[in-house]
Amino acid sequence: VKTIGVLTSGGDAPGMNAAIRAVVRTGIYYGFKMLGVRKGYNGLIAGDISEMTARNVSDIIHRGGTILQTARCKAFSTEEGMQKAMSISRAFGMDALVVIGGDGSYRGARDFSKFGMKVMGLPGTIDNDIASSDYTIGYDTAMNTVQDALDKIRDTAYSHERCSVLEVMGRKAGHIALNVGIAGGAEVILLPEKEFDFDKDIIRKIIQGRNSGKKNYIIILAEGISEKIGGALELAKKIEDLTGIETRGTVLGYIQRGGSPTIQDRVMASAMGVKAVELLKDGVFNRIISVKDSKIIDIDIDEALSMKKDIDQDLLRMSNILSI
Ligand code: F6P
Repeated sequence: VKTIGVLTSGGDAPGMNAAIRAVVRTGIYYGFKMLGVRKGYNGLIAGDISEMTARNVSDIIHRGGTILQTARCKAFSTEEGMQKAMSISRAFGMDALVVIGGDGSYRGARDFSKFGMKVMGLPGTIDNDIASSDYTIGYDTAMNTVQDALDKIRDTAYSHERCSVLEVMGRKAGHIALNVGIAGGAEVILLPEKEFDFDKDIIRKIIQGRNSGKKNYIIILAEGISEKIGGALELAKKIEDLTGIETRGTVLGYIQRGGSPTIQDRVMASAMGVKAVELLKDGVFNRIISVKDSKIIDIDIDEALSMKKDIDQDLLRMSNILSI
């Protein structure tokens, strides 16, 4: 490998810039030519590629979003798109590619490797839904953003003696919801990974809480389950109708994707970026950088994509104890 490209793909996540910086600087440190590909796989197909220097990644470690920008690229899932991307990569002399993104981006990278590209994946998504890794870049910052919002919502729920339903992101996974629900003292946490009964698990819980002296209630709704039971506003109306308690819904939305990354996201992104390039230097490729038991490891890309991840059952059990 002489020339390494780097791109960000899928939804942006705070800490992606720290990862880009680490990849570019580590590559330059070891004597590689480094190329930045803009707008995910779209940029690969369009040739939106330019050389990156150590200075191109100055002053970005603290910034949310991704300086390379990102996209979800349909064309890349076709054979024609991949072939085009491969020809463009050859034209730029790119012989390895570091992809910072989620599962969808890894599938693209895996398929691209069949065309001869040496790929390396870094876990970048706020959802923490990558099976091979305990942790993903952006997850910690997103949780802190939700936490901050939840604390503010609790202030106003207390003042008005209201019930508040807060809908958080996470795609089909409830990792953000569960952790923030515990950290924010939610009465009810609704996750796609957990069956629930509307009357018993929501209405009865609120009424029991009221009977025991509670004056306000926080309900965390993971977006992955809102398809099944309706979004925050709809759920708020149903709760108010049945309990008589004034209820408000908030959909937190894209605020969760932005902002300056936390220390954890910056350090993990930096360490994973270094690891990705050092592996390429050692002739190792088609791997996914992951975190297992607080250690940074690498896993074969096919194996990583075949793995499944569950919600933390212990945390789930504890959340039931703590929300009485
Ligand atoms: O994967 C990150 C995420 O923010 C999910 O939590 C959410 O479901 C999705 O992306 C939203 O995607 P888009 O940016 O395409 O609207």
